[in-house]
Amino acid sequence: VELLDDAPEKRHAEHEQEKTQISRAIEQVFRQFNVEVQVVNATRGPVVTQYEMRLLDESMRVGKVEGFEKDLAMKLGTEGIRIVAPLPNKTTIGIEVPNRIKEAVVMRDLVEEADPSTMALPIILGRDVVGKPMIGDLAKMPHLLVAGATGMGKSVCMNAMICSILLFKRPEEVKFIMVDPKMVELAGYEDIPHLLAPPITDMTKAHAALEWACRTMDERYEALRATGVRDIKAYNELGIDEIRLRLAKKDQRSEDLPGGGAKLPYIVVLVDEYADLMMVNKEVEKSIVRLAAKSRACGIHVILTTQRPSADVVTGLIKSNLPSRICFRVVDKSNSRVVLDVSGAENLLGKGDMLFLQPGTSSVMRGQGVWLKDSEINAIIEHAKSQGVPTYDDDVLKVGAVRMDGGGDSGSGAGSEWIGDRQFHEAVQSMYRYNKTGADFFRRKLNIGYNKATQYVEQLADLGWLGPQKGTASREILRSWDEWIETLKENGVTWDEEDELYHNPVELRQ
Ligand SMILES: Nc1ncnc2c1ncn2[C@@H]1O[C@H](COP(=O)(O)OP(=O)(O)OP(=O)(O)O)[C@@H](O)[C@H]1O
Ligand SMILES: [Mg+2]
Repeated sequence: VELLDDAPEKRHAEHEQEKTQISRAIEQVFRQFNVEVQVVNATRGPVVTQYEMRLLDESMRVGKVEGFEKDLAMKLGTEGIRIVAPLPNKTTIGIEVPNRIKEAVVMRDLVEEADPSTMALPIILGRDVVGKPMIGDLAKMPHLLVAGATGMGKSVCMNAMICSILLFKRPEEVKFIMVDPKMVELAGYEDIPHLLAPPITDMTKAHAALEWACRTMDERYEALRATGVRDIKAYNELGIDEIRLRLAKKDQRSEDLPGGGAKLPYIVVLVDEYADLMMVNKEVEKSIVRLAAKSRACGIHVILTTQRPSADVVTGLIKSNLPSRICFRVVDKSNSRVVLDVSGAENLLGKGDMLFLQPGTSSVMRGQGVWLKDSEINAIIEHAKSQGVPTYDDDVLKVGAVRMDGGGDSGSGAGSEWIGDRQFHEAVQSMYRYNKTGADFFRRKLNIGYNKATQYVEQLADLGWLGPQKGTASREILRSWDEWIETLKENGVTWDEEDELYHNPVELRQ
């Protein structure tokens, strides 16, 4: 907590004045339409104040009240008004009106007010419209989707979530996998001991990492089953002796368990802009859904963000498996409905103003995201680094590792068995023929599975034929067709002179 800055002081007198003024204005607007209302309470949050009003007019339907949003916006001269009619479990209606002076939400008093240290994966989100802390346990959510148009606060929110976990959890308790197509957002976390792999910017590797998480999930399920416990929490409470005892009854050994029976860390898989990942290949959705659908008990949790909350990105499958969702301002009503199933996010203010849909509830809660200064983030990163150095697990990024397991091949990668593979050659040929690369391209051109296509790309990169992945752009072809033919010959590959697959494809280009 000492790593965080103090909160600034508040100015109460001015706030009271603003409240009275707006309360009267609200009553007036409704009176213009011959609806008698009375504002009975006002509670100030950091950016928005919630006014509670009572309908005095018995004949007025509650459902109609929401229609006054625009009239209020005009009268008060502000956007960002939201009407909640009725307030959950109350006999009043809530009207959220932006404050004239907005305050940033500071992490420090949130942490001091509520004690998140007992949660498995504390996530400090911000404050709601009446100023109450919004703090959740990711372990219970158990996955989170964060959407919002560009510049509305997703990255700030994601940093806050990472930092909240780093503040309270040691590297042996929580590990992260971070996928960062934009290559800047998460770069600062490189070298913290909580990482399983450096922040991933290569989309092929990102998919490999998701697959790794799926495999880890399966292994952990095995471990839970073998020891007869329900979830990772219970498993971690057993202790190694009890685990050995339980396994002995089944003639199994603790060495066969992931981590040899030691406590298992929670794993948080974080994907910034997962739409980029889905564009590179559709299989990603399957991995995400598989993970989200069953990883809860084994302590693997997913956080996704997207700038493009359209129905083809936030698909029905993803939604049904990620019940906790945060939506910052979006461009229109339909985007809001895609994310939250209700409209409203199109009227938010931006800059961290959010709607939060919690699992098990149908109503969304409005809140203001916590704001961490760069200096605070850096202090937290330094603190994390002081807890150790990262031990990266190479398996996380190994493309097509599933296949390798079976073959028992632990070879160096650039193995020559690829060179003689006719289909692999066909991939190379089409690469020069169409001057295109990428797993998706190979998949379509050769009609092969995604895993295989990804392996081809990786293999070509290992052989030095393709450059590294840079964000979402496709890889660069580094060497020529003639060099390829040379390499084949050097490796003793032979072919029929008539075989068109070995004729120079560059000449076939139109
Ligand atoms: N909780 C907040 N409190 C105050 N200001 C905020 C908050 N969240 C965001 N902002 C402001 O909005 C800017 C953009 O936020 P952010 O980088 O999180 O956007 P984004 O949604 O990630 O955008 P993109 O989709 O382009 O990555 C921040 O630099 C900051 O000035
Ligand atoms: Mg961002």
